[in-house]
Amino acid sequence: MNPTARRIALSLLLGSLPVLGALDLPSVHAGDPNAFNRLMKPASKRNPPPAQDGIHDPKNAGTALLQKPREAFAGLPKGRGGNYIDWAKALNDGKIAPRYDKIKLDAKPILMDLNIVREVKGSMPDVVYPHKQHTEWLDCANCHPAIFIPKKGANQMSMAQIILGEKCGVCHGKVAFPVSDCRRCHSGTKSEKTAAKNAPPPSAPAAKP
Ligand code: HEC
Ligand code: HEC
Ligand code: HEC
Repeated sequence: MNPTARRIALSLLLGSLPVLGALDLPSVHAGDPNAFNRLMKPASKRNPPPAQDGIHDPKNAGTALLQKPREAFAGLPKGRGGNYIDWAKALNDGKIAPRYDKIKLDAKPILMDLNIVREVKGSMPDVVYPHKQHTEWLDCANCHPAIFIPKKGANQMSMAQIILGEKCGVCHGKVAFPVSDCRRCHSGTKSEKTAAKNAPPPSAPAAKP
């Protein structure tokens, strides 16, 4: 990340702190100031068994019947954040076969292979939004029209909105890979014109991928 992007990322993170402070965190996390941030957990503390995850009721008999995530995740391709599984790859490699319809067991998703490139001002690479990987899991109506008007460029989007849980942030950071994985969304290139305009001075270190 080059210095400008780092500065923007830092101000984005700082900008979101008052919001985090205002959240009513569950009492299980009291005393651990970093508990809200799954990325700060050491590997040994990630994906605890359901009775200890602060989500499921440990007194409910059903909780004990659930498979432990670490057991279920063994053998799945590793990811860089969230629950540390690359779910898109897991599906692509045939390691999982999610059921697409609750009732019709052999229902197949309607795939749409259409990438939407969203140009990003400044030095971050453009965002490439892939319909294919999304329609493998989701229905068109999960996004259209409530989250996105289905027309290229018709939607205003910003990183601040995404961090606050709007637009891509309705899912990313909650049920899909988190916002910290910058290059997975910012996977595009820059047009030569923008790249030249944003090039760091010769003495500055080159941007890392
Ligand atoms: C995960 C969310 C999501 C899902 C699911 C989704 N889309 Fe989209 N769609 C988008 C986004 C984001 C855009 C880009 C909007 C923009 O650029 O402002 C888009 C754009 C479009 C466009 C406009 C293309 C153009 O060139 O103007 C069409 C048409 C479209 N989607 C149809 C569909 C259909 C049909 C499905 C189901 C098969 C679907 N979408 C599923 C998020 C989604
Ligand atoms: C889930 C996908 C996603 C991830 C992950 C993501 N971004 Fe973005 N980012 C976007 C989208 C979408 C836009 C808006 C593009 C547009 O203008 O249409 C954007 C815009 C931006 C912009 C332009 C200015 C602004 O605030 O909108 C910057 C800078 C940026 N992102 C930096 C980052 C950094 C740094 C990270 C990692 C900490 C990151 N992004 C992770 C999707 C993502
Ligand atoms: C309705 C939920 C939803 C919304 C909204 C959404 N995504 Fe996703 N996205 C997913 C899911 C689910 C996956 C697959 C699981 C995963 O990779 O974590 C995914 C995967 C992806 C991938 C990974 C593809 C791969 O092959 O690794 C990219 C890139 C991505 N999303 C970008 C975006 C961008 C950019 C936006 C906003 C324009 C967006 N998503 C909005 C749910 C969503």
